[in-house]
Amino acid sequence: MNVTVFGTGYVGLVTGTCLAEMGNTVVCVDVDAAKVERLNQGQIPIYEPGLEELVLANHAAGRLAFTTDPAPAIAHGDVIFIAVGTPPDEDGSADLRHVLAVARTIGLHLGAASIIVNKSTVPVGTADRVRDTIAAALRERGVDIGFDVVSNPEFLKEGDAVNDCMRPDRIVIGSSSPAAVAVLRRLYAPFNRNHDRIVLMDVRSAELTKYAANAMLATKISFMNEMANIAERVGADIELVRHGIGSDPRIGYHFIYPGVGYGGSCFPKDVQALDRIARDHGYTARLLQSVEQVNAAQKNRLFELIAQHFGGNLAGRTIALWGLAFKPNTDDMREAPSRRLLEQLWQAGATVRAYDPEAREEARHIYGERADLVLCEQAQQAVAGADALAVVTEWKAFRSPDFKRLAATLKQPVIFDGRNIYDPAAVEAAGIAYYGIGRGRSV
Ligand code: UGA
Repeated sequence: MNVTVFGTGYVGLVTGTCLAEMGNTVVCVDVDAAKVERLNQGQIPIYEPGLEELVLANHAAGRLAFTTDPAPAIAHGDVIFIAVGTPPDEDGSADLRHVLAVARTIGLHLGAASIIVNKSTVPVGTADRVRDTIAAALRERGVDIGFDVVSNPEFLKEGDAVNDCMRPDRIVIGSSSPAAVAVLRRLYAPFNRNHDRIVLMDVRSAELTKYAANAMLATKISFMNEMANIAERVGADIELVRHGIGSDPRIGYHFIYPGVGYGGSCFPKDVQALDRIARDHGYTARLLQSVEQVNAAQKNRLFELIAQHFGGNLAGRTIALWGLAFKPNTDDMREAPSRRLLEQLWQAGATVRAYDPEAREEARHIYGERADLVLCEQAQQAVAGADALAVVTEWKAFRSPDFKRLAATLKQPVIFDGRNIYDPAAVEAAGIAYYGIGRGRSV
């Protein structure tokens, strides 16, 4: 099939590439000329395991092209995906400017009947606005061309995006057009083997499904962070509690890891946007607001522990920081808990020696050169000359450090474990003080 994808961010680039890998001919459109140029030279703008190889192979095979020119791209697509960003507006609602601009562009260039598929995370009702925008542009041109607008939200996780796209656990298709559904069924057939993963529904339900999924996951995390805060106060260990509740299949072990709060480009934005959608429809989403508040407070937790340990005096101290990315296997630092910690440490007069396997460039890009941030090339380098070590991202490489060596290197051997990846007893046996999240010994 001929496929066009608007937007070469995480969702667009991964979707376009996986569809090309399955033998479709895919044209990806982006307004960012420099990005398109780099992609055509085989340079991938994001770090995502497995993506680069697939982009290079499909590009070389002529199944994957990148362009800034929408007209031929729109003429190319039997199916046209909209996968552009929906950043938060000042009031928390999703900014639909990019989505509607693409819709208008499609309307201005559409030459034959086509299926427009919205993959961006958008407020309920956006498919109708996309349809109206395309129809208005067609009317301006005085042409009458049939088209369907389908909602097909994306559920990929950064760091595992290619796998999620190739082996989805569900493919949600929101459409009332049997013809459009039949085409998407064919397009997704290679990803939908063994058992049917397609979940058909109306457009609005599909749009809400995306927000509901992310809001549920964010709720699980904030719930566990709240339990961790209670555990600290009552002298319980949240890690034991986690085990104790996760074994109930109705609760499950997934996504109940307490920590320094959720970050990334999705949960913070989507929880706020759903709260806003509810408000716009006359409903106060008290639970969602609490999820957001708990998360905002949790991002301060590690700094609070550090400040408390050092008697409130961090001026002139050096803190080693392991992890900058909002989670492992990505270089993404959007809404990363590391950012709040960095900024609080600087505010308190501390210097940070930071290491992350992938996000060092991103940190340089965000913060520029500054005397109180030393970006190190190795984890051990970050610790050299530091008073204490804080861990905020659970990269595999951080899981089994040589505690004896750390004890000898850190000036005041203490670890602040923002992801509960260490066994407190093992750390303490090496002569290092230990603070975790909700482990009954910090308050
Ligand atoms: C999330 C969802 O998991 C995807 O299903 C969804 O498609 C995506 O958003 C999206 O809307 O595009 P992502 O933001 O890549 O994916 O990352 P997650 O793996 O969900 O992690 C989000 C945050 O939650 C991270 O900061 C992570 O450290 C934190 N987290 C996760 C916890 O603190 N505890 C947990 O138990 C799990």
